[in-house]
Amino acid sequence: MNRIFSGVQPTGNLHLGNYLGAIRNWVDMQNSFKCIFCVVDLHAITIPQKPEELLQATREVTAAYIACGIDPKTSIIFPQSSVSVHSELAWILGCHTPLGWLNRMTQFKEKSGKHADKSSLGLYGYPVLMAADILGYKATHVPVGEDQKQHLELARDIAGAFNRFYGSEYFPLPEPLIQGAATRIMSLRDGTKKMSKSDESDYSRINLTDNAETIELKFRKAKSDALPGITYDPEHRPEAANLINIYAALAGISRDQVVEKFGNNNFSDFKKALAELAILQLSPITAYMRDLLRDTSYIDSVLKDGAEKADAIAARHMREIKEMVGFLTL
Ligand code: TYM
Repeated sequence: MNRIFSGVQPTGNLHLGNYLGAIRNWVDMQNSFKCIFCVVDLHAITIPQKPEELLQATREVTAAYIACGIDPKTSIIFPQSSVSVHSELAWILGCHTPLGWLNRMTQFKEKSGKHADKSSLGLYGYPVLMAADILGYKATHVPVGEDQKQHLELARDIAGAFNRFYGSEYFPLPEPLIQGAATRIMSLRDGTKKMSKSDESDYSRINLTDNAETIELKFRKAKSDALPGITYDPEHRPEAANLINIYAALAGISRDQVVEKFGNNNFSDFKKALAELAILQLSPITAYMRDLLRDTSYIDSVLKDGAEKADAIAARHMREIKEMVGFLTL
């Protein structure tokens, strides 16, 4: 059976990259797959978090899932920390993960910077926990943005190592689904840097909580170049390419069609059209999120119900895994 698993970290504001690169693509998948969408709070604490902000962000990500079109009646939505299998399986898989594999992970290098010695074991083991998230449900497909590709390759390697060691085909090798024009949305201030929750400048990203004026202002101030017209040339015109990708993804058309439509325009007109389109699509989501967050009891009930369903699947797998490893299952 095909099963989808994906997740978002409850750290800071969700942005257009999370929406176009991930969450929006999940909505249609609900019709053809069994879907499990996790709010990955265990991953969030690999970087220090304030408890009250983490709690609030967990509810915000849940509200965003629902407001973007994830239906809690069809899909499972739950907080990672509420299902103990994630941490338990991460330990077992960690015992099958050579350090050499982890040392290749670019995200750890980026996040730890020049101070790798001061980084936590949690940050280093982050991709193993991610493998446990996916494999704990024996997920077959994982829809993510481009930046998660290396982690998914590692999850496949870990699944393969486990299967080989125990002489079985227990874990399916999960397939990454990296789809559409917006697999890597870049910062609005620097077309060579990924749009990210952690960027110091709020002008670098469109948040799902931004109002219409802010969205308009951020696109107006977005970095562009002095070349004439709008052309798609990611190497020489990264900012223009990024805006074209965003327009294409929002409008559901190809890059070529965007260039055909705006090729002779100047940036100011193109940005205005882009802002209008973004506002049209994002404002109902923002309004719905705000409504949902007014009553946290509904959000919490969705998470509780999802946690029970997720736990039922993962705990069954965990018993099988424990037997394979040679643990007593009492
Ligand atoms: P996170 O919280 O950083 O991002 C959530 C999702 O958004 C995508 N994304 C982007 N897509 C396009 N352009 C961008 N600028 C951009 N920024 C973020 C990410 O690729 C991701 O799909 N490690 C994951 C969370 C995770 C997970 C998992 C995902 C934990 N366990 C198991 C899949 C399966 C992460 O940090 O996502």
